[in-house]
Amino acid sequence: MGTLVIMAGEGVGPEVVQEARRIVEWFATEGGVDIDTREELYGTKAYDRYGTPFREDAIGDLIAADAVFFGATGGPEFERIPLELRRRFGLLRLRRELGVYANLRPIHYYDALEDAVAVRPEVARGTDILVVRELNGGIYFGEPRGIEPTPDGSRRAVNTLVYTTDEIRRIARSAFALARSRDGRLCSVDKSNVLDNGVLWREVVTEMGREEFPDVALTHILVDNCAMQLVIAPTQFDVLLADNMFGDILSDIGGAIAGSLGMLASASLSDADATGHRRALYEPVHGSAPDIAGRGIANPIGAIASLALALEHSFDASSAARFLEKAIEQTLADGVRTRDIGGSASTTQVGDAILAALRIS
Ligand code: NAD
Ligand code: IPM
Ligand code: MN
Repeated sequence: MGTLVIMAGEGVGPEVVQEARRIVEWFATEGGVDIDTREELYGTKAYDRYGTPFREDAIGDLIAADAVFFGATGGPEFERIPLELRRRFGLLRLRRELGVYANLRPIHYYDALEDAVAVRPEVARGTDILVVRELNGGIYFGEPRGIEPTPDGSRRAVNTLVYTTDEIRRIARSAFALARSRDGRLCSVDKSNVLDNGVLWREVVTEMGREEFPDVALTHILVDNCAMQLVIAPTQFDVLLADNMFGDILSDIGGAIAGSLGMLASASLSDADATGHRRALYEPVHGSAPDIAGRGIANPIGAIASLALALEHSFDASSAARFLEKAIEQTLADGVRTRDIGGSASTTQVGDAILAALRIS
């Protein structure tokens, strides 16, 4: 029996998680995948009950679970929690406590969405990219950081972009291995023309390619050009390897190829521990979308496709994952779509349609 802890979070988080929850339940009761789900409060609801955005004691449970499913964080509601607590009990802390340093963000072009995609279909068609984003280091966590007064009475803000060779190696190893299991092409992203960090990143990745993965075709690209190439010629990429911040930014561009930010899924994985247990966190790429929250119109496909990633990577159920992906494609082909991808269906109607597609196939 696998265990999945659900943290719905803020804004549209609970709305899209509700649809993913119904699908997990379907797989558990009728789809032959043994998953036991449990809820854990995150965000304002937890703050009102426990005084912190999640229970400190919950961390042990999250670490022990087979997977954690997270909705979204952030937005005006969340900001009523004091900044110090939001920092200490935020999503970044969860990612770090879980040690999920390898963030996989697929960018998939759906033929059914030809009319809804911002990038011209003849450019986007066939795109199948996996962004591998480093998630536990870099400028998100580097010290020193902070805003401090200066002697002239003004202030200065500091963040530190820091990666050790070990941190670069472990994420590069994940990306090379994934490239090997796909089309065998890895493109590593950096800013080595300006940043020392980028120089080290490129050196370490190049050496690893030569010594451990000579069969993978390795190329390097500067991040600014990468952003443009993703828009003008996305099919050139197979696996993209990027640091925490570059990976964050580049993966959102995937929304222009997949139809919407609401379509994008992610899986974050740790290494296996001594007992073979690998911690995992699944979340849609999008945030709490305060501009549409509470209206029942958020696209649940990013969340549901994240569940497909969970079936594959945490519940040893890759055929169930394929089955769910087919049901998503069927739903899009049937024209059951939320507003962001050119339709008028509600979040729940999309969930209904995906469930119906699962039932009849
Ligand atoms: P966002 O992803 O919340 O929204 C960006 C745009 O995409 C908005 O126009 C929104 O309406 C649209 N969008 C997002 N998800 C959608 C969905 N499922 N269906 C349809 N449209 C959708 O990003 P933002 O507005 O920059 O940030 C809002 C808050 O979310 C911030 O507090 C930010 O920190 C947080 N955030 C959280 C996560 C996360 O929880 N993993 C990710 C990104 C942003
Ligand atoms: C994401 C989000 C997060 C990030 C924020 C909410 C911390 O943008 O998951 O892409 O920057 O990692
Ligand atoms: Mn982001």
